[in-house]
Amino acid sequence: PTREAIDPVRYISNYSSGKQGYAIAAAAVALGAETVLVSGPVDLPIPPGVQLIPVTSAVEMLAASERELPSDIAIFTAAVADWRVAEEKNQKIKKDKSGIPDLKFVENPDILQTIAKRTSKRPTLVIGFAAETENLVENARDKLKKKGCDLIVANDVSKEHGVFGGDKNTVQLVSASGVESWGLLSKQDVAQRLMAQLAAQLTAGKA
Ligand code: C5P
Repeated sequence: PTREAIDPVRYISNYSSGKQGYAIAAAAVALGAETVLVSGPVDLPIPPGVQLIPVTSAVEMLAASERELPSDIAIFTAAVADWRVAEEKNQKIKKDKSGIPDLKFVENPDILQTIAKRTSKRPTLVIGFAAETENLVENARDKLKKKGCDLIVANDVSKEHGVFGGDKNTVQLVSASGVESWGLLSKQDVAQRLMAQLAAQLTAGKA
């Protein structure tokens, strides 16, 4: 089954196919995890065994993510828009004689950072993604610190790599303990390796 179309008529968004996030949810189910997938509108089948929570905004995505706490692992793959229009209209904004609408913007919450910096019910492992076109590792290190997460999965999205919308990904894992490069893999393989590694880390921590 695909999810229903519940998209607004006009909206501001970042592009993301959702493929990597959906593959991660499927890999988590395969390892026996109780898996909740909070997802914006994408054109992908719902992985069997996951509980899907459909959302259409960053504010809803944060609220849904917080409602699902506590959790052992939280992974943030969504390409969340940094800003949203300050005033959401209930009707389509018509093109009329008054010309180009003067839209005001406000900042969206940083979902990853908000969850990673929680003082109560912080998931044991909080993972972020970083889409970069240059200085991959350096930017990922900065992001790791700024957002307060345990791991950043950095992928190069410069055009020649064809990551966007494609089925493959070249990632580097950046954590406090160093950098790991995985080379070119399918998004499924990235998901399975990532989940296996996180499961092992979680078990080691609880031992
Ligand atoms: O800062 P930047 O957007 O590059 O960071 C990417 C990471 O932060 C991703 O894991 C993304 O899901 C997360 N993010 C978020 N909320 C935002 C912006 C990004 O959770 N508003």
